[in-house]
Formats: sequence, structure tokens, C-alpha cells
Amino acid sequence: MADFSVTPWEASGVIDYDKLIAQFGTKKISPLLKERISRAAGELHPMLARDYFFSHRDMDLIVDSHEKKEGFFLYTGRGPSGQMHIGHLVPLAFTKWLQDKFKCNLYIQITDDEKFLVKQGMQWEDTQKYSHENILDIIAVGFDPKRTFIFKDSEYVRNIYPLMLAIAKKTTLSTAKAVFGFTDSTNIGLSFYPSYQIVPTFFEKKRCLIPSAIDQDPYWRIQRDIAQSLGYFKTAAMHSKFLPPLSGMEGKMSSSVAQGAIWLTDDAKEVKSKINKYAFSGGKSSIEEHRKLGGNPEIDVSYQWMKIFFEPDNKKLQALHDEYKSGKLLSGEMKAALTERINSFLQAHREKREEARETIKEFTHEGALATQMWEKHF
Ligand code: TYM
Repeated sequence: MADFSVTPWEASGVIDYDKLIAQFGTKKISPLLKERISRAAGELHPMLARDYFFSHRDMDLIVDSHEKKEGFFLYTGRGPSGQMHIGHLVPLAFTKWLQDKFKCNLYIQITDDEKFLVKQGMQWEDTQKYSHENILDIIAVGFDPKRTFIFKDSEYVRNIYPLMLAIAKKTTLSTAKAVFGFTDSTNIGLSFYPSYQIVPTFFEKKRCLIPSAIDQDPYWRIQRDIAQSLGYFKTAAMHSKFLPPLSGMEGKMSSSVAQGAIWLTDDAKEVKSKINKYAFSGGKSSIEEHRKLGGNPEIDVSYQWMKIFFEPDNKKLQALHDEYKSGKLLSGEMKAALTERINSFLQAHREKREEARETIKEFTHEGALATQMWEKHF
């Protein structure tokens, strides 16, 4: 038995990402592939350079499509089960980079249906409130309104239901049980839901690229089994690791453990107090010992967050690493540096979120981007 587990809904234990590649049947992002992406994009995003995005399916074919000028489109999503935390922003920030570099269309799915079905005690009204709140946070990431369409499942379903049925008809219950671990006590809504998460990969007759954390990959496995028989491409995907929770390098930052997460709605005081109280430290128990023996950046959550998201400058990151390891930089100083970064990031985010109230319609309007490819099948 593995001592960790990753499903689309939960992650626990210290995750061995190489083992996950073998388990899920994906591929490691190789130095050669990074070089190709860098050439195509004109630069390499730090999350790629630092192997935070570490695994893929068919990313080489996406680069081929780009080189042949056939283009591709992007698809990602969010399940509105509550306010968003910083972990949710990480794949979105990377998606924005891809859209900026490759100028492609992007579809963002808001799965109000999924979260209603999966969460015990979740009221429909709550999923609707959080859908709206989450869409504002997503827009604040800075996507191009001319190339982005954000849709909520319960609203958009009328446009895609026939295509969803075509996918459902090709997917047996035993496949869904094997891929998602559904049992006889899983509600029947949830066994149908995966067909909806697959639909957007068919929104254009081009290759689709999905950036997300690796937990969403099981859906793409089913998509890749049936896509060609429905006349579409197998989807490509790029998978990230998880932003760890404040409490340490186990599991993922998750909505269900409030103390482990920094919410996008946390104010400067809350951020400071959470980091000081909860951020797991790789430092020694006394200043004297720390100065003498140094800290361990590999398990220090504040350093890891800097590496993943908050310190894009390689030289500055290296300095944090080396000074921490040598004992020159104390845990409290690492925490203070991170707190400062998060708070300036969140302040800018909040301002952009307010502006999003004015522009939301540009992203959610069923306009030019909403394709109706399914009509071809019926
Ligand atoms: P959800 O709302 O659980 O997560 C939204 C996105 O955030 C990623 N994620 C994380 N990334 C880094 N660190 C973390 N701690 C962390 N926690 C979550 C998820 O991988 C996801 O990319 N069913 C989906 C919604 C969805 C979707 C999609 C996601 C529909 N279509 C296509 C990705 C791509 C969900 O509930 O995501």
C-alpha cells in the first residue's frame, strides 16, 4: 500500500510525485521538452524551470501544433466549494502565462454541480454564491477578455447536453469505478459528472491543453480513451505539484483544513498571524543552534512557497536558500519575507478583484468564444 493518496477530491501523505507519474501513466517534463517550450514561448516560466509543473500528457504535440501554426486552446476550471486559497491561484497564474505567450482561447469551467454533489451538507445556494465570488478571483488573475470564456455548469448545460450524453454513452460504470474509486454508495449524480468535466476538451477542433495540479488527471484518462472515436483530439495536459499546506509538506493546501490555507480574502494581519503561528519551519529549535547548524529549506514551508510562487527571481531565491541553510537567515526572517510578499500580492489581487465586478460580463457572456461543435454529431 502506498503511504500517500491523490484523487480529484483529496490528497494525503507525503506525495511521491515520481511514483504518481508511474501510477497515473503520465510523462515527466524532460529538459528537452522544457527547451522546446522555452523556444516556442520566448522564455521559461519559473514554475517550469523549477519543476513545479513536472508532468504532462502530449505536451510535445502541443508544441508541434504551435510550430505548424495549427494552434491549440486552453481549458481549466474551479469547483466553487468555498472561497479560493492561494493554491488555487497557482495553476491559474501559469495558465495566464500560457495565454499571454501563445495568444490562445481559454475556457474556464465552474463546476457548481460537482461541488453540490460531492460535498455533504453543501447547499445549492452556497455553490451559486461561491461561483460568483470565485469568478471574480479568477478574472483578477488578468486573463484576456477577448480570448477567455468562463462558464458555470448549471447554466451552460443547455448548450452542451447532447455532447455530454455522447461522452456518457461511451463511459461505463466500471470505468468510472476503476478511475475514480466510486462505490455502490456513491450518489448517481457523481457517476455522471465526469462526462461534464470532459466536454470542454471538445470545444474546438484543435488540440486542447489543460494546466492544473495532477489531481485532475483521472478525467483526462477517460477523455483520451474516447476522444478519437467521437472525432476529437486526445487532450494534452500539464500537471503541477501541490502548493503544500502551512502545516508542512504533507497533502495539499485544501479548503477543508482552514489552518493550513491562506485565503484570498485574508487581510494583512491574518496573513501575518497565520504564517507566524502555523507555517512549518525547517529551522532549529534555538537561535544559537540554528546559527551553528543552519536550517533545512526542503521542509521549510515558507521557503517552499517562495520557490513555487512568491520569489520568481532565481538569484534572490538562491540567496534565501543558501543563507537559510548556513544559519545566517533565521526562520522568523524567512517568515517575515514571505508575509511581506503575500500581503503585497493580495493587496494588488483585491484591487483587481474589485475591478472585475465591472468586467465580469465580458468573460461570462455566451459570445464569440462559446463554440457549438457538438452540433456536428447530432
Ligand atoms: P478545484 O476547485 O479543487 O481546484 C481548482 C484548481 O486548483 C488546483 N489545486 C491546487 N493547485 C496547487 N496547489 C493546491 N494545493 C491545489 N489545490 C487545488 C486543482 O488541480 C485545479 O486545477 N473538478 C475541478 C474543477 C475543474 C477543473 C477542470 C480543474 C473542472 N474542469 C479542468 C482543472 C482543469 C475542481 O474541483 O478543482
